Amino acid sequence: GVDKKILVIPGDGIGQEVTAWGQKVLVTIAENYKHNFVFEEGIMGHVAIEATGNPLPDETLEKARRSDAILFGAIGHAKYDNDPSLKVRPEQGLLKIRKELGLYANLRPIKLFDELLEASSIKPEILRGSDILFFRELTGDVYFGEKNRTENMASDLMIYHRYEVERIARKAYEAARTRRKKLCSVDKANVLEASRLWREVVQGIAKEYPDVETEHMFIDNAAMQLIKDPKRFDVVVTGNLFGDILTDEASQIAGSMGMLASASIGDSVGFYEPIHGSAHDIAGKGIANPLASILSAALMLDISFGLKNESQRVIKAVEATLKQGYRTMDIANKHTDNHLVMGTDAMGAKVLENLN
Ligand code: NAD
Ligand code: IPM
Ligand code: MN
Repeated sequence: GVDKKILVIPGDGIGQEVTAWGQKVLVTIAENYKHNFVFEEGIMGHVAIEATGNPLPDETLEKARRSDAILFGAIGHAKYDNDPSLKVRPEQGLLKIRKELGLYANLRPIKLFDELLEASSIKPEILRGSDILFFRELTGDVYFGEKNRTENMASDLMIYHRYEVERIARKAYEAARTRRKKLCSVDKANVLEASRLWREVVQGIAKEYPDVETEHMFIDNAAMQLIKDPKRFDVVVTGNLFGDILTDEASQIAGSMGMLASASIGDSVGFYEPIHGSAHDIAGKGIANPLASILSAALMLDISFGLKNESQRVIKAVEATLKQGYRTMDIANKHTDNHLVMGTDAMGAKVLENLN
């Protein structure tokens, strides 16, 4: 077996509830396959502000640097969402750890389990067979450009450097080569200078991958095409802000926000997290879907540890659980037997049973 050190950062709200299950799945995999996973815990977000005044304490960042991989939940609290004037905010912790660890590529796979065809608000015949891999650039764009604020003016600079576009584009092309060999680059090059650089750079990289079919699409059209005909997409590469928005939209292709896992990779350690947030509306109720966290753990096993069999085993256990009819409320539908709709812990326990 392998020796790995994993930092777990549950964060806030449902992050606390679902990350416990991602971790339990990793513990079970370690037992079953004789690996040695050592876990540490770190704080980030609102809980960290409450404890230390800092959304990303140095101690958490140090633990992150020492680890082989990080399992993260979510951050956020209603208090900040409702008061834009607060200067110290949970989200700053997440943005800072992404930047500090050089996590420039955020992989967001959108794969529909057949069992969830009926759970989406999109028609089954449109959805069936959808399988998209998003590469969202994660350490640039309007998120990290200079900010300005006066009483009556505010600005966030949208900025991209050539090297930032090149490295994410290469990662996306490499992935496209192992898939259906189609890449769609999404930008707003008809209006934005940053997007014109983006498009120019992707056009250049495209020449290195003549075996991959390249398409450029404007963000507004992409948002529409995604719902009109999701099957037309294979790999999608886009900037930080557009990628954030498009993948929440794309969660409906997989049935729910509660199904979407992600991997953030770059210079060193890998960071694994659901794409969803702390979900104030359901936090504390024990009803959040733990599958996004569990599938994030599966991505960790595959991408950071190279444990492909173990990763597939987790995905199969999720599939088996769905086949048995078990659902959290976000993926239940009118045909679902009420007896099979359950909370976070019951659902997580079913997945563990299917791992054994
Ligand atoms: P959200 O992703 O938290 O929730 C959006 C909707 O999806 C809600 O209706 C929620 O109940 C539902 N949902 C999300 N995850 C679910 C799950 N696992 N199971 C079932 N339903 C689920 O987005 P929001 O409401 O816009 O933001 C809430 C807070 O989270 C904000 O403070 C925001 O800044 C923060 N946020 C954090 C992250 C992150 O930590 N990566 C991501 C997005 C938002
Ligand atoms: C995400 C979130 C974050 C983002 C926020 C909370 C900073 O929405 O991980 O998708 O915008 O990147
Ligand atoms: Mn988001």
